[in-house]
Amino acid sequence: MAPKRLLVGMTGASGSLLTIELLRSLSVLDEWETHFIMSRGGQMTMECELPERMGELLSLADYVYDNENIGAAIASGSFMTAGMVIIPCSMKTVAGVHSGYSDNLILRAADVTLKEGRPLVLVPRETPLSPIHLRNLYELSMMGVAVIPPMMTFYSGSQTVEEMAHHLVGKILDRLGIPAEYRRWDGC
Ligand SMILES: Cc1cc2nc3c(=O)[nH]c(=O)nc-3n(C[C@H](O)[C@H](O)[C@H](O)COP(=O)(O)O)c2cc1C
Repeated sequence: MAPKRLLVGMTGASGSLLTIELLRSLSVLDEWETHFIMSRGGQMTMECELPERMGELLSLADYVYDNENIGAAIASGSFMTAGMVIIPCSMKTVAGVHSGYSDNLILRAADVTLKEGRPLVLVPRETPLSPIHLRNLYELSMMGVAVIPPMMTFYSGSQTVEEMAHHLVGKILDRLGIPAEYRRWDGC
């Protein structure tokens, strides 16, 4: 059985709150371990969007890695995990995963996740999407990658952006088979 370890990458797309919400949800599940990598772009967007919460973000992860450290344990398939989530995922990182161009630890860990046949979830954020973005995401989805963009949810009764983030994270955890408590659709 795969150990309850999840790799979490944060890249330079808007949506730092989503990373905080995912790590927060996992931090209350004692048996789950998070291994967190933030790109330089992820750091920049965090500093723009939620500068006062950087310390909190880092404290929510069990292990934090330098994105330049391509020799870290998580860069190898022999480091067993239950999968990886890249949240938010920039179009540059989407392109890197799509092409297998693994020049940083996030991309290498995603490449390893794919080659080992483990679940990979991308939370891509850009709007509008160009034909290049759509092609890359489509082809990744055909390879078995779960593409879960942060779409607004109108049916869930969410009143705040935090509630929307919580709902999205519930969908991500469902995809990975990790227990999630959020308001599920049960009809009109
Ligand atoms: C404040 C800010 C917001 C950004 N938002 C997005 C975005 O929503 N989607 C995206 O694909 N790129 C966005 N970018 C551009 C990426 O950060 C940039 O392409 C970067 O090279 C991505 O590298 P990374 O994937 O290694 O983090 C944003 C950049 C900044 C500074």
